[in-house]
Amino acid sequence: MALYAETQKLKAKTIFSLQEMKTKQEKITCLTAYDATFATLFSQAGIDVLLVGDSLGMVVQGHNSTLPVSMQDMIYHTQLVSRGNEQSLIIADMPFMTTATPLDAANNAALLIQQGGAQMVKLEGARIETIQFMAQQGISICAHLGLLPQSINQLGKYSVQGKSEQQAEKILQDAIAVEKAGAQLLVLECVPAVLAKKITEVLKIPVIGIGAGVDCDGQVLVAYDMLGINLGKQAKFTKNFMQQADSILNAVLAFVDEVKQSKFPSKEQSYQ
Ligand code: KIV
Repeated sequence: MALYAETQKLKAKTIFSLQEMKTKQEKITCLTAYDATFATLFSQAGIDVLLVGDSLGMVVQGHNSTLPVSMQDMIYHTQLVSRGNEQSLIIADMPFMTTATPLDAANNAALLIQQGGAQMVKLEGARIETIQFMAQQGISICAHLGLLPQSINQLGKYSVQGKSEQQAEKILQDAIAVEKAGAQLLVLECVPAVLAKKITEVLKIPVIGIGAGVDCDGQVLVAYDMLGINLGKQAKFTKNFMQQADSILNAVLAFVDEVKQSKFPSKEQSYQ
C-alpha cells in the first residue's frame, strides 16, 4: 500500500492548515507519539497532529497516573518526536504543576518549543489568565477540557464529564472562554457526544475529541491503545485497529481512513 504521505504529497501542517480543515469540514487526525520511530511512521501515514502526551507517564514509564511526568521527560520525548517527524504538527503536553502561574507556564512552554521542537503546547483546564498571558508571548496553545487526568486526585476516578445540564453548561462556557483567551485548538476528553457536537459548532477553533463522539473536528487516540499494546483495561472510546490490520502502518492507515470518513468513533464508542 502506498503511504498516504506519498500519494497526497503532504505539506507540513500548521495551525493555519488545521483551521482550514475545520472550515472545509475535513477531519483532523491525531495520535500520541513518544519517540522518533513512531513519529516517522505516523507522520508518513498522514497523521495531521502528533501529541507528545503526558500519558507517556502511564504507557511508557509505568506510573499509574500522569502526575509524576517532569519537564525534563517532556522535553526529552518532544525532541525524539521532532527528530522523527516529517509533516505533522507537534503538540507537547505541559506536565502537572508546570502551569501554576502564567509566568511559569510561559517559561516552561518556551522550553518545549525551543529545546523540544514543539509548535504548540497543551494545558489542562480553563486557565484563562494563563492562556491570555501565553498567547501574548506568541505561544500557540491547545486547551484541554472535559476529563482532566492531571486532576485525578480531585476526581477520584477517570469518568465521563459534563453529564448533568449544569456541568455541560460549565464546559461549554469554559470552551468559549479559552477560545476568547487565545487558545488555537481544543482537546475535549470524555464528554457526551451531544455536548461535544455543540461545542464544535459554537467554537471557531478546531476541536479534537477523545471519547467525545464523532462530530468533533478531529479525533485523537493514545497510540498504545489503538495498537492494542496497552495491557490495562481498554476504555469504551478506544479501538484496537491492529485487530483488522497485518502491520502497524496499516492499522494507522485504517485509523486515518475511519476518522476521515466519520466511521470512528461509532455510537458504541461514544457517551450519550
Ligand atoms: O496525554 C495524552 O495522551 C492526552 C490525550 C489523552 C488527549 O492528553
